[in-house]
Amino acid sequence: MKDAAVPFRVVLVGCGKAGQRFLRALRYGACAERYLVTGLVDPMVDRLESVKGEANAYTDLATALEAERPDVAVVCVNEEFHWEALRKVLACRSIRHVVCEKPLTKDMAELQALGPAVWEKPVSVNFCERYSYIMDDYRDWLREHDAEVSRIEFFWGKYRVRDPRPTMGVLSELSHPLDLARVLLASPASELLELSAASSTFSDFSVTGLPAADDVSVTGSIDGVLVSGKSSFLWDERKRRIVVYACQKESGNTWQVVLNFDAPRWDDDSMVVYEINPCGGERQKVAEKRYRSSDLDPQVRHINKLYRYLLEVADTLAERGRSPRFADAADARWAQVALDEVASLAGDENTRGRYAALFGPEVSLTERKIEAEA
Ligand SMILES: NC(=O)c1ccc[n+]([C@@H]2O[C@H](COP(=O)([O-])OP(=O)(O)OC[C@H]3O[C@@H](n4cnc5c(N)ncnc54)[C@H](O)[C@@H]3O)[C@@H](O)[C@H]2O)c1
Repeated sequence: MKDAAVPFRVVLVGCGKAGQRFLRALRYGACAERYLVTGLVDPMVDRLESVKGEANAYTDLATALEAERPDVAVVCVNEEFHWEALRKVLACRSIRHVVCEKPLTKDMAELQALGPAVWEKPVSVNFCERYSYIMDDYRDWLREHDAEVSRIEFFWGKYRVRDPRPTMGVLSELSHPLDLARVLLASPASELLELSAASSTFSDFSVTGLPAADDVSVTGSIDGVLVSGKSSFLWDERKRRIVVYACQKESGNTWQVVLNFDAPRWDDDSMVVYEINPCGGERQKVAEKRYRSSDLDPQVRHINKLYRYLLEVADTLAERGRSPRFADAADARWAQVALDEVASLAGDENTRGRYAALFGPEVSLTERKIEAEA
């Protein structure tokens, strides 16, 4: 049955890197049949002009919402502007679904300030790794082997020093592996992250020049399973890896499941499973799944997970398909609570004080470089 409202009218807010990835996905294939991007919003007029195509261009969101009466808003502005954009799109009567880049808001206070509106309209957050094919392989493998997860380690970061895009800091990056860890555990949003330790470093790495967290380490548990890992914006290259330990109670078999995302290019995802010998810990590879972006249709290459996410949003709008796997408002809130906990434990005066005793009140990456060169 065809939805009378198809194609859904879309206003996309923020036409930077993330926004342009969304645009590509919205304008391709089955997405293009279900969505019509009618309005684009960004204060950068040159950027708007270069991507607008058939859409109307606006520098003001309220004007765009008033003129376009969209069904869907896609919010891809920098994190510090999420709240303001969300407030406006949630108040727009025509909106039937809000797609938002992660994290939903910069912190919990902003989420609370959105009030009940965020629970009244369908909202989802772009934790797009949920749409990797290896997530299906992982679930199948766990089920086939009757395996239970006993521990999760993650490494999630990249190089973002003086990147021209303003950022709230590495907690934005950390939201991905935290969300994924909970999905890998199939744990409900009611089970909060129990944090036992977190530490962070701060520097002027961001283009804003203001001190922000650039690196964070976290140890805690979800549903009683130990989860620990690290996120950074100071690594030499992108790394998005989750290592899951799983065991089968009756046989005592133990496995290490290594999930790699976007390595080396977006959508180059892999899952490798090793069986661990209890005597000596020797590992034997027992399963391997690899997906190459080069095998995908070029039009959807490097945006495949995003494309699948958008198709599922369209299915829910048309009340079709199975229950969606996207991160909804409850999932977004879970991540927000976890990030706030990490921020208060890792960024408190005590941590900063100890850090300052070692390196001075704030580390300036650029000054250090100048010192080193002098
Ligand atoms: N899910 C992912 O894997 C992923 C990857 C990269 C970025 N992101 C997220 O995407 C968001 C944007 O990041 P980016 O890398 O695209 O940054 P960007 O700087 O490239 O783009 C942001 C755009 O928003 C515009 N903007 C700012 N204020 C606006 C407003 N009030 N109204 C309309 N437009 C406005 C800016 O002019 C800019 O063009 C962030 O939340 C970031 O965390 C997510």
